[in-house]
Amino acid sequence: MASIGNLALSLLPVTESAARAASGWIGRGEKELGDGAAVDAMRSAIAQVPMRGLVIIGEGEKDEAPMLYNGEVVGSGTGPEVEIAVDPVEGTTFLAQGMPGSICVLAAAPKGSMFQPGPAYYMDKLIIPAPARGKIDPAAPMKDKLHDLARALGKEVRELRIFLLKKPRHEAMIREIQAAGATVRLQTDGDVSGGIMAALGTKVDAMMGIGGTPEGVISACAARAMGADMFGALSPQKPGEAEAIAAAGLKAGQWLGRDELVSSDDVLFVATGLTSGDILDGVTRSHYFVESESLVISGHDGILRRVRTHQRID
Ligand code: FBP
Repeated sequence: MASIGNLALSLLPVTESAARAASGWIGRGEKELGDGAAVDAMRSAIAQVPMRGLVIIGEGEKDEAPMLYNGEVVGSGTGPEVEIAVDPVEGTTFLAQGMPGSICVLAAAPKGSMFQPGPAYYMDKLIIPAPARGKIDPAAPMKDKLHDLARALGKEVRELRIFLLKKPRHEAMIREIQAAGATVRLQTDGDVSGGIMAALGTKVDAMMGIGGTPEGVISACAARAMGADMFGALSPQKPGEAEAIAAAGLKAGQWLGRDELVSSDDVLFVATGLTSGDILDGVTRSHYFVESESLVISGHDGILRRVRTHQRID
């Protein structure tokens, strides 16, 4: 089967146009309108991409936000059959409040290769850089995980920095990390960016904790494209979520490996910065151009491109 890798630069305009469209909503206190602008822009840009695409992971149900829905057929209707996971705005609160760290993101993989989380909204995650791949047991006690991670990275435990979302559900985990001698890097939202930093091994050494399931599958694509490791376990947080997961025949609490979350190396991850953050600069405007920065990561050839685009304003 031909690689989907050559779709990389065709998918780039999809997240770029979402970021440009949503940038008009930065700091306006209107999460939904900003997200909606990104969804609309993504939907019309993705229609141009030469593929037969199917949205496997949309976003929106959890927060009743506007969405590209699961099962939506996307792309021009010719070319490879591709599964798509989207998060038109990852960090909607950051967008609405004009805070750093919101991005527009999607992942693509060949048909049949993405994990389908059904009605699961939340996933526990562990993302670690390539040198630690296969050397960490996600179910081990925190102290042992940190010890093994430090050894794999050639560091002391006290040199490790772990990214977690700053949520009440993580208070015990944060104390365990600190008690073991490592440090935390907390952020209220945006665990895809945390996962990218962890996969790259820049700024943090791992990403841990519970976040959204769509974000989990997208992060697994990024991790796989970069040769990094990831584990995910469905971790219901909302009323009725545990029952819905069981009814769908899925198992909460069971760690899935990276290759169960996405079963092909031929994956693509594309993200464009909306508000400037750790991994990407945000959208800026001059009189003549709108400038954006994106990451395009291809698992097929292991290439990570950082692309700056200047779109002329007519
Ligand atoms: P949104 O962009 O949908 O607001 O998601 C941001 C985010 O922080 C994700 O990065 C994370 O995976 C998820 O929300 C966590 O969900 P919650 O805030 O409900 O705990």
